[in-house]
Amino acid sequence: MSRPSSPTTLAAAIIAVLVFACRADPEPVQDFCVAAAHKTGAADDQPTFPGFPCKPSSTVVSDDFFFGGLSAPAKPASDSPFGSAVTSGNVEAFPGLNTLGLSINRVDLAPGGVNPLHTHPRAAELVHVVSGEMLVGFVSTAGKFYSKVVGEGQSFVIPRGLTHFQYNVGATAARALTVFNSQLPGLVLAAPALFGADPEIPDAVLAKSFQVDGEIIKLLKSKFRK
Ligand code: GLV
Ligand code: MN
Repeated sequence: MSRPSSPTTLAAAIIAVLVFACRADPEPVQDFCVAAAHKTGAADDQPTFPGFPCKPSSTVVSDDFFFGGLSAPAKPASDSPFGSAVTSGNVEAFPGLNTLGLSINRVDLAPGGVNPLHTHPRAAELVHVVSGEMLVGFVSTAGKFYSKVVGEGQSFVIPRGLTHFQYNVGATAARALTVFNSQLPGLVLAAPALFGADPEIPDAVLAKSFQVDGEIIKLLKSKFRK
């Protein structure tokens, strides 16, 4: 007959389960697994567990661990109606990150620009402001809004899965680096997800959900449907 577990053993087992359950990406099982060319263009081209297939280690070179894609914004922030540009440094852009459980973005905000409300289903996010000043905020599951004006050299953390934004409150352009505990954090932009979904969410569902007139939903859809 097996002995009943001691409270310490039980606590250790519970902590182990919690740590495993809370980790954003699985632990690597080798030094590295640089992603082999994987882009098929198919909509379902997602990494398989625990990441994309590795390229043979004999073909891995130093450049596989280098990424220069954040040295400039992908496009000027002022070109976007939001006054923002997010340049991604996830595993799709930087194959050396595969299975390492981290990634990085560059966020550029024109004065008054906003990186609009969004969530990352698979990662927490650390926002580190490199220049300028931005209001960074998120809403908890209890509906509480947490925010802070974050300046150069300062950081703010967004817990996993919560709706958040960055908004330039300074007179000059602002820039942040955002770091994630996932190689592919995922991105759900709130307004396009609701008003730009394809096929579209019925107007009646949105009007009832937001407690507004159908005309308002039509207006919002006209802004976010492609
Ligand atoms: C900022 O919120 C980002 O997702 O890069
Ligand atoms: Mn984000």
